[in-house]
Amino acid sequence: MKRFASIVSIGAYAPPKILTNADLEKMVDTSDEWILKRTGIRERRIAADNEAASDLGVCAAKIALERANRRIEDIDLIILASLSGDFHSMPSTACVLAGKLGAKNTPAFDLLAACSGFIYALSAAKAYIESGMAESVLLVGAEAASRFIDYSDRSTCVLFGDGAGACVLAATDDPKKAVIDVEIASNGKKWDFLTIDGGSRSTIQSGGAPYIKMKGHETFKIAVRIISASAAAICKKNGVTSEEIDHFIPHQANERIIRAVGTALGIGEERIVLTVDRYGNTSAASIPMAINHIYEEKRLKTGDLMLLDAFGGGLTWGSALARFAG
Ligand code: ACO
Repeated sequence: MKRFASIVSIGAYAPPKILTNADLEKMVDTSDEWILKRTGIRERRIAADNEAASDLGVCAAKIALERANRRIEDIDLIILASLSGDFHSMPSTACVLAGKLGAKNTPAFDLLAACSGFIYALSAAKAYIESGMAESVLLVGAEAASRFIDYSDRSTCVLFGDGAGACVLAATDDPKKAVIDVEIASNGKKWDFLTIDGGSRSTIQSGGAPYIKMKGHETFKIAVRIISASAAAICKKNGVTSEEIDHFIPHQANERIIRAVGTALGIGEERIVLTVDRYGNTSAASIPMAINHIYEEKRLKTGDLMLLDAFGGGLTWGSALARFAG
């Protein structure tokens, strides 16, 4: 009998501190009108001074574990996707989170694929479960991206926010509860579109700044085409028509990108999940936060078919088709 991975719960956490467009108007030469028109963002959340990515991740993970009726002892792998981990590279944020959750000897690792991190991590979790290497996986997307923002750079500081989302995946033999397919891809020739210095290529000592830098317009120009093609391909491969998709839940970078992809795929507005207005771009956390948003609004039902997609630094991108089994 074929083994499938199943998303059995979802949880999310957004820190309470709000940074509005009006606040940003006082910090850089920008306007609420520009931000709203170009990105769809009204406000974003900012982690408290004593909160790092793992702290936000722990809050989301606890909710996901409780909703899955599982204790941390029941989890045999933890994967954490982030571009704003607690430490530069060591220890992994997954290990810090595992420690805070009380995990004992559970393997835990970070996965870096920028804003595509959740989809990349989902593909890894799916492979672990389908191969029999794991029965249940805790998958967390957690970002304290504000720590890597230059609040004098108007081209990036209006975009990003903090938050975390988490889900528990478990093995099942029921295809109606399955993560049906995940497709991931990259184009390393365009690595310089989105960067954060401070590694061996450009250390802080050699003048590298630990801030998110983005060739925003260049990224924008290719994002719609690449994500639309990726999402259309995964649907075609699995014989899924756009009418069958209950919820289109894309990475929340820019409302214009999301709407353009929705139109290209023929998915009606009522099935497109948008949270970018309230959270901004929370990178690897944005998709699980958006899933949690419709779960808490009681719009997400057991068995609903979700189409997920993301695009981000690397460049990386990917799509997933998954039934919700929570
Ligand atoms: N307020 C006012 N004006 C601004 C601001 C601002 N906050 N930021 C830029 N501008 C100006 C620019 O200086 C430029 O002025 P100019 O015409 O005088 O030179 C003008 O606005 C237009 O700038 P563009 O960058 O061309 O604006 P664009 O319409 O492309 O919107 C944005 C910018 C929102 C960043 C968009 O390009 C975008 O969303 N890009 C894709 C982001 C994305 O998907 N990233 C991948 C995921 S993120 C990750 O992986 C970490």
